[in-house]
Amino acid sequence: LMSRLPIVAIDGPAGAGKSTVTRAFARQMGLVYLDTGAMYRALTWWVLRQGADPADAAAVEPLLLDLDLQLSAGGAGEQLVSINGFDVTEAIRSPEVTAQVSLVAAHGCVRQALTAQQQAMGLKGGLVAEGRDIGTAVFPDAELKVFLTATAAERARRRAQDLERRGFEVPPLAELEAQIAARDHQDSSREVAPLCQAEDAVELVTDGMAIKAVIQALVDLFRERVPEE
Ligand code: DC
Repeated sequence: LMSRLPIVAIDGPAGAGKSTVTRAFARQMGLVYLDTGAMYRALTWWVLRQGADPADAAAVEPLLLDLDLQLSAGGAGEQLVSINGFDVTEAIRSPEVTAQVSLVAAHGCVRQALTAQQQAMGLKGGLVAEGRDIGTAVFPDAELKVFLTATAAERARRRAQDLERRGFEVPPLAELEAQIAARDHQDSSREVAPLCQAEDAVELVTDGMAIKAVIQALVDLFRERVPEE
């Protein structure tokens, strides 16, 4: 029997530090890193560029037909994202995309298309995927599922640091916290594959934890849960 290599699912709300720790964990464990949020962001960038209404499923659906969405490894564990030939690695982190992505990600047709692509990328295993519905919908048979969270206040602080580092304007913390709470609500209350903790996921609350400690916690869980060949 040819079974696939292990899969790790990391889910959780926006700004919990998923990307940073997942990328480092992937590198340390020799796993492929799959940032599914980047796929929803890239599609959102394309929807906006085409002048389609992100809230209108009928306007978004035709754009899925001849979609060429590609993830590739850049230097330093970076994940390059391109859509229909455009490198959108930087552009998908803009506040415009961030503000609209939940609307696009709520459409059933969108989730069906991107989930199928993610599952195809995971056929052989050997990857860690991060998102909102990895443990529940994309890879329900993942060997390790982690639900990574932090309080909204903590996540707002981290988002502010992140925006500053990327050279974007930094809104007041209260405003960021309100945006994060709104996005949490949108992501958790949508009908298709909402953000929620899988029954068999380990919850990790990262308030006050150093990035290194979170990565180590993931490594420990992996060694504990995933049997070696
Ligand atoms: O993790 P992120 O902030 O890059 O995710 C961007 C948006 O994409 C987020 O608002 C929710 C959505 N998303 C999703 O619905 N399902 C996923 N597996 C990943 C992201």
